[in-house]
Amino acid sequence: MSVFPSVPAPIGVFDSGYGGLTILNEIRSLLPQYDYIYLGDNARTPYGSRSFDVVYEYTLQSVRKLFEMGCHLVILACNTASAKALRNIQQHDLPFMDANRRVLGVIRPTVERINEITQTKHVGLLGTLGTIQSESYPLEIKKIFPDITVVGEACPLWVPLIENNEHLNEGADYFVRKNLEQLLRKDAYIDSIVLACTHYPLLLAKIKKYTPQHISIISQGKFVALSLQDYLQRHTNIESKCTKQGKVSYFTTESVDKFKSSASIFLQSEIDASRITLL
Ligand code: DGL
Repeated sequence: MSVFPSVPAPIGVFDSGYGGLTILNEIRSLLPQYDYIYLGDNARTPYGSRSFDVVYEYTLQSVRKLFEMGCHLVILACNTASAKALRNIQQHDLPFMDANRRVLGVIRPTVERINEITQTKHVGLLGTLGTIQSESYPLEIKKIFPDITVVGEACPLWVPLIENNEHLNEGADYFVRKNLEQLLRKDAYIDSIVLACTHYPLLLAKIKKYTPQHISIISQGKFVALSLQDYLQRHTNIESKCTKQGKVSYFTTESVDKFKSSASIFLQSEIDASRITLL
């Protein structure tokens, strides 16, 4: 018997910080009819340089909290959590927590469409240290598209720049340029670069500035939204447990004022938020 509320509830969207808001934006523009609960673990962000065990522990706490809030479906709108925690949660925790609830990530939806974005079959990947070191993308891509070559570059300072609202300033240019040059030096045939971190679309203008024009920059939000739409169409048992009033509630583990002012940059509108504690 589940200890979580059984009545229909919003879809949960989780990220270590603000990055998942770029995913939430895309999901809401494709699926505006649903309700969503956004949870940002801003007090403990960034996850990117944390160990496997810590990312797993923090992510599991967040998933449990979203289940306690009633969510039947949770999207890990975070590549680092998807790379380091998703499989464990799906295989080892869900059966004990509540086998009827679901947790989905952002890596699989992106990988499934990676063949659509490359002609040369050479793709570059920008992500956190955790995502790149996990090799989750190359491993998943190899299973579906063995002819596609992927090279990754970890950008450990990009998330802190964004979380501290420094991403539009000149200092950010140095790190964006440096990581892009390092990535492009690894493979001269890259024709697409995937932003494999949900924070990175916020750096899009600078990323474009330092990328040769023939290379496309791909944000994953649309892929995740399309995959969710498809999932809900195929899993009516879950879909029927998602409330539909088009509302969003925001929760953060950090200060509400800080969340509200930074989130408004991501969302380009004012929002309300509440603080919660994760244990
Ligand atoms: N936005 C996240 C990701 O996609 C997390 C970044 C972090 O916390 O380091 O990886």
